[in-house]
Amino acid sequence: MSNTTGTLPILLRILPYARKAIPRLILGVVAAISAAAVALSIPQVLRELINSLSTSGTIETLHSLVLLVFALGLLEVLLVLLRRWLVLTPVTGVESDMRTNLYRKLQDLPISFHDRWPSGQLLSRATQDLGLIRRWLSFGLVLLIANAVTIVIGLMVLFSFSWILGLIFFVVSVPIWIKGFRFESGYGKIARQSQDQAGDLATAVEESVHGIRVLKAFGRGDFSAEKFARGAADLRSTELKKASLIANVWAYLLFLPETALALSMFAGVLLVAEGALTVGALVAFFATATVLRWPTESIGFLLALTLDAKTAIQRHFDVMDEPILIQDPISPETITNPQGKLEFKDVHFNYPDQTLGSKGLLRGIDLLLNPGESVALIGVTGSGKTTLTALTTRLLEVSSGSIELDGIDIRMLSRSELRTHIAMAFEDATLFSASVRDNVLLGALDTSDQALEEALEIAQAGFVYDLPEGVDTKIGEEGLSLSGGQRQRLALARAVAAKPAILVLDDPLSALDVDTEALVESALRKVLTKTTALIVAHRPSTVQLADRVALLQDGKIVAFGTHAQLLQTSDHYRYVVSSLEPKPGEVIA
Ligand SMILES: Nc1ncnc2c1ncn2[C@@H]1O[C@H](COP(=O)(O)OP(=O)(O)OP(=O)(O)O)[C@@H](O)[C@H]1O
Ligand SMILES: [Mg+2]
Repeated sequence: MSNTTGTLPILLRILPYARKAIPRLILGVVAAISAAAVALSIPQVLRELINSLSTSGTIETLHSLVLLVFALGLLEVLLVLLRRWLVLTPVTGVESDMRTNLYRKLQDLPISFHDRWPSGQLLSRATQDLGLIRRWLSFGLVLLIANAVTIVIGLMVLFSFSWILGLIFFVVSVPIWIKGFRFESGYGKIARQSQDQAGDLATAVEESVHGIRVLKAFGRGDFSAEKFARGAADLRSTELKKASLIANVWAYLLFLPETALALSMFAGVLLVAEGALTVGALVAFFATATVLRWPTESIGFLLALTLDAKTAIQRHFDVMDEPILIQDPISPETITNPQGKLEFKDVHFNYPDQTLGSKGLLRGIDLLLNPGESVALIGVTGSGKTTLTALTTRLLEVSSGSIELDGIDIRMLSRSELRTHIAMAFEDATLFSASVRDNVLLGALDTSDQALEEALEIAQAGFVYDLPEGVDTKIGEEGLSLSGGQRQRLALARAVAAKPAILVLDDPLSALDVDTEALVESALRKVLTKTTALIVAHRPSTVQLADRVALLQDGKIVAFGTHAQLLQTSDHYRYVVSSLEPKPGEVIA
């Protein structure tokens, strides 16, 4: 994120993406320069034309010269069209490649990254920034090079007419370049700020849309509206600063060429009067200066675009450079016939930003789940239960110690394989905008109707058959809204349908009523005889589902045994169980 890196090294980072597009981009630059060369040659013909008028040239040469001007004009237009055609298609490919890579990277990044990065920032990087890079590649870069070359050639032409006139033009150009160069430093910072603020604004919109119910329920719609208005005002003032910087540069770029023309007009007339310059050459000089005008003026804008692109590229690589700490092993092992033995060995873990000192959140978890055994995990809120479950599928990575599946360290397995052996369901059930079927079979190898029905049966999700289109009904954000309990049951069905060797459930039944929960539990019991299960429990009834209970306290498993044993031996266990909230009608055994 440093601003100390030079512009060029950052821009060059686009090379690996642009490799395929480079040949056509180079051809595009060549076409652009050719177009400029043609444009610059027209004044030369004009000079011949005017000089032949004054030196009584034949009507035929006149005709052919006029025709030549016309042909050159046509050629210029064709070359401009050719440039556009050359650069447009390949560059769209660059944009989509970058977007795909960014998306893949986002999938690969650990959840700790997503905790840190607001979604709006990622959204603006995936859309706005990449659009900007595309525009720069197809338009900014090509024209910046072509226009710079045009100016150099043009200056040489001007000097060839008259060194005095050429010198005037050159002397006036120098402050323009210096100004453009200075502009570079100021503009880069503001460009970045405005892109960041746009990202924050997108986050604000996203958050308030997601939290619309809460905001409305608490009558705090104006709170988020104010927050948005403030963000929008910030962005506006940054954009205004940006615009005034550009305006400043443009003032230079417009005013100075005007002055140059006036000066050279004066000098030119004197030179013609002295006979040092032909009228034709003077006209050609001004025609050439006119051709050079747009390239000169546009340099400021193209520089601005280049700096915007630099910022966008930097923001792209801010994400791409994030280290992926959780990686697949180079030569992963495989478990062909998983037994479902899960063992935590002296597992330590701490969140990077957590201030528990050197102690850490989990500090030496030892726990063995035998194949087919179901273990309930309980502990006070914030004791690290959810964290412990996330370690089993490497959503988080242990700081030290290890977790072994059938005696193999889970870090020796590819994550995709690991996640076929261990399936999770969370309290916060996320459904995707897809059919019930696709949501449930998301992680399943067996995608038959029978597998679907079985999973729905276990999760007591029979309600889906009453939906308008049964299991093909679209649900999730863009589809039918489901209740919290319905969503939880589908999430549970999803975990069950994956037919994993190990099920990890983080309080997946919290939103169910007692009767439904009892039904789910009795169905789960059948599954759990074959499947190893680690179940985070917030309710006595869930505890009773398990063969044994593990009590998490101060980062360690302080008690492990049957519910009855622990009730007898552990004070803390009795305390935690009594604080679990029984539902009305539920009895603590
Ligand atoms: N992404 C995170 N980054 C930093 N700290 C976190 C993160 N997630 C959780 N924590 C902290 O880690 C501790 C344990 O959280 P965890 O969610 O594992 O608790 P839990 O036992 O599941 O609690 P609950 O019973 O309320 O679900 C808490 O103090 C929490 O603030
Ligand atoms: Mg939790």
